[in-house]
Amino acid sequence: MRIAAGCILTLLFLSGCGDDAPQADADPQPAAGTIREHAQSSIAPVTGPLAIGPVTFFQNYCARCHGDYGWSFNAGYTAGLRDEELLERVHEMVVGPAQQRLGEREIRALADLHRAIDAGDAGSFAARTADGSIDALPGTKDPEALLEGRGAWAGTDASGRVFGEVDSRE
Ligand code: HEC
Repeated sequence: MRIAAGCILTLLFLSGCGDDAPQADADPQPAAGTIREHAQSSIAPVTGPLAIGPVTFFQNYCARCHGDYGWSFNAGYTAGLRDEELLERVHEMVVGPAQQRLGEREIRALADLHRAIDAGDAGSFAARTADGSIDALPGTKDPEALLEGRGAWAGTDASGRVFGEVDSRE
């Protein structure tokens, strides 16, 4: 089962099984662990800004169906989804209805954004983008402090957990 799930996820990240797979995950078996643990275990270093602002991307390509900042998602919709399931859903949505292509880090950031969206007013999310700006959910207080030591993106979820691209082990 784990092998099958890993293959499916790997296929999702490959561009249609072709030779051009620039975003292919270095680790073909991300089944266990959280998004953050997976980020840490991947061979490529996780540094640098993101190619997109996840919040802006959501507004541009997802909000027409899911509402501004995801208000039309059912409360608690991420609670029953493991990280890899949420990643898979988000990836399906990006290449499906949104008709976009994103790198693996950007997909992970977008998946993490959903944890913050699901926290409603209690959630926060911020990301550093390539143009030097910070892309944040409205209501996110002090995005710089939130991002400090957590990589290109960070947020808080419904349980009050502070997460980031890099696990700061709080
Ligand atoms: C054309 C409309 C449309 C667009 C655009 C769209 N979605 Fe969806 N999305 C849906 C529908 C309909 C569902 C529920 C049915 C399903 O699960 O396939 C869904 C389900 C989801 C879910 C699962 C929610 C749950 O309750 O399990 C996530 C997460 C999600 N979308 C994220 C996104 C993201 C991120 C984007 C932008 C990249 C996006 N969607 C763009 C229509 C859309």
